[in-house]
Amino acid sequence: MRLTRVTRWPTIRASIVGSAWSPWLYWDGRKDSQWSQALAPLEDPNEHGANRVQILGLIASDPGYRAAYETLFGAPPDLLDEQGIDQAFANVGKAIAAYERLLVPGLSRFDGYVAHLESGGDYREQSHLNALELRGLRLFMGEARCTECHNGPLFTNNEFHNTGLLPPSGELPDRGRIDGVRSVTADPFNCLGRSSEATASDCAELTFVRTGIELLGATRTPSLRGLVNTAPYQSRGQHSTLTEVLEHYNRAPLAMIGHNEATPLNLSRRELRQLEAFLVSLDATAATESRWLEPPGEIPTGGITP
Ligand code: HEC
Repeated sequence: MRLTRVTRWPTIRASIVGSAWSPWLYWDGRKDSQWSQALAPLEDPNEHGANRVQILGLIASDPGYRAAYETLFGAPPDLLDEQGIDQAFANVGKAIAAYERLLVPGLSRFDGYVAHLESGGDYREQSHLNALELRGLRLFMGEARCTECHNGPLFTNNEFHNTGLLPPSGELPDRGRIDGVRSVTADPFNCLGRSSEATASDCAELTFVRTGIELLGATRTPSLRGLVNTAPYQSRGQHSTLTEVLEHYNRAPLAMIGHNEATPLNLSRRELRQLEAFLVSLDATAATESRWLEPPGEIPTGGITP
């Protein structure tokens, strides 16, 4: 069996860059670590459509993968030992996650502005953000109330909210986090599972996870870094431009399922343009060495040089 080979490297999307800091993965947060998320597409019939025994068989039979696996984790498991298989499958996810952790957001012009303020600079100074973007920042933090949910270094509170998005036409609305929370607590590969190296005290997010009815139709607040190349937006690609996203917040329609937590903003066209300019100023290329963004070629045998 061969996994699909990626011949052209896809554009790096914000959904992976910086995800090392996310306590929840997927829009409904049904995974609670990068490594356990990485396992799901391998077995999803719509993605790689493989199963864990096939994946481990591939690693055992390919000299490059096998040597790399053994260097990191020891001998591959006996394919009749179910627990050993799950452990080894988790190791595959951990190796993928180790790579993903190299995909770190770079500094944007907004970060330059923050550094300027931290060194005692004048807040009106326009060498990092221009007048339009500065007005957008003021709205973002003030009248438009974006920071209620999009706050912190990645512009997300890492929580789940209902923002009244309609499903694409003809499709059913998403139950969102209310189902995601059920999946993640039952997932054998979660933070408290046997394959996790975390201690119980590392798993506070899962132990104290919110489960209330307000999670109906709620999705994960995404980071707002690097939006320029990641259209279409929202969990089901409902908006093809940032202008459409902002018009949605401005109207704040009634939710089809659950309750929209955002309220209408009644901003003018000009204010919406300012907000959009600010969002674009958060863009930056990933702070990742270019060699990690190229296909690796052959897997080196006899060890991996980081
Ligand atoms: C009540 C919490 C909340 C508030 C307030 C809020 N957002 Fe969001 N935002 C979210 C959530 C949750 C999503 C994901 C919704 C989905 O796609 O299901 C989101 C999605 C987005 C996206 C799409 C990102 C992507 O990668 O697809 C953008 C852009 C965005 N918000 C910008 C803003 C701006 C600008 C404001 C202020 C006008 C704002 N948000 C206010 C919670 C919030």
